[in-house]
Amino acid sequence: MATAAAHQTAGTPAYGAQDGTAGPAGDTGTDAYQRAFDAAVAADERIEPRDWMPDAYRATLVRQIAQHAHSEIIGMQPEANWITRAPSLRRKAILMAKVQDEAGHGLYLYSAAETLGTSREELLDKLHSGRQKYSSIFNYPTLTWADVGAIGWLVDGAAITNQVPLCRCSYGPYARAMVRVCKEESFHQRQGYELLLALSRGTPEQHAMAQDAVNRWWWPSLMMFGPPDDESAHSAQSMAWKIKRHSNDELRRRFVDICVPQAESLGLTLPDPDLKWNEERGHHDFGPIDWTEFREVLKGNGPCNEQRISQRRQAHDEGAWVREAAAAHAAKHTGAGRSGGTGATRS
Ligand SMILES: [Fe+2]
Ligand SMILES: [Fe+2]
Repeated sequence: MATAAAHQTAGTPAYGAQDGTAGPAGDTGTDAYQRAFDAAVAADERIEPRDWMPDAYRATLVRQIAQHAHSEIIGMQPEANWITRAPSLRRKAILMAKVQDEAGHGLYLYSAAETLGTSREELLDKLHSGRQKYSSIFNYPTLTWADVGAIGWLVDGAAITNQVPLCRCSYGPYARAMVRVCKEESFHQRQGYELLLALSRGTPEQHAMAQDAVNRWWWPSLMMFGPPDDESAHSAQSMAWKIKRHSNDELRRRFVDICVPQAESLGLTLPDPDLKWNEERGHHDFGPIDWTEFREVLKGNGPCNEQRISQRRQAHDEGAWVREAAAAHAAKHTGAGRSGGTGATRS
């Protein structure tokens, strides 16, 4: 909760009143609320669901949190493909736990979006009809078992780099959801690294399989940070609102710097001949990213776009009876509570 101090500074009686009519004399109500909001953001306080917030701030958060939630649940698909084919019971158990974690991340995030006044049903409908996006990385196929390792190391690794700063995001429910998500993501990253290490130190065929997976996932994982800063439409405003704390290019650089020594320890190479340490900048230089490919995948022309959405729609339709049963169960309990809780209607 943003502290009362910031609200009082701006003269608003309560952040919870959203009609903007209660501003101080001589001031339009909305201006006072806007100033209280700006002061809270400037003071690094959290904005909470019942606080007043600009419409555009709310809309930006809904768009970002929804896209994040959709990415978590669509991201279950490429790896779930390998649960039945995992090479050992241990690997199967780890992968199942990981894929279940991603479902949980989706739930936290849909719940965070609901605090902004959007229903989960509405968001899923937008995903299924293509009106909202998910991360384009999940439109690439998982061709071999080593892809599970490359996804954990690189895709979950990129996700952590993106999401750790979101733990300090100005919107409270999103920031708090990220704390737990990041802890789980770091387990995902390590399981991917450990899987690749086992393959890299295995037979020559296993080593080649690990290298091939890294070759295919490296560039798409760099694209996960979004377009370059000078082409990123929403970045500046999101940074001013402290939803976003670092620019796309800054996070991408950080990720590359983290991955280079890890690739060396893995005994694998990153597929970029231009990758080298730049003493002057204190970062690695890397080759140009194929943004044409990124835009094509985003437009729906990636290798798996259609398959991902049709499987998602099918899973949603097949789960209709579960949602109906849960709603009926909840209604029954509410009914039992109202009738004095005799227990007669309890299942
Ligand atoms: Fe996740
Ligand atoms: Fe993950």
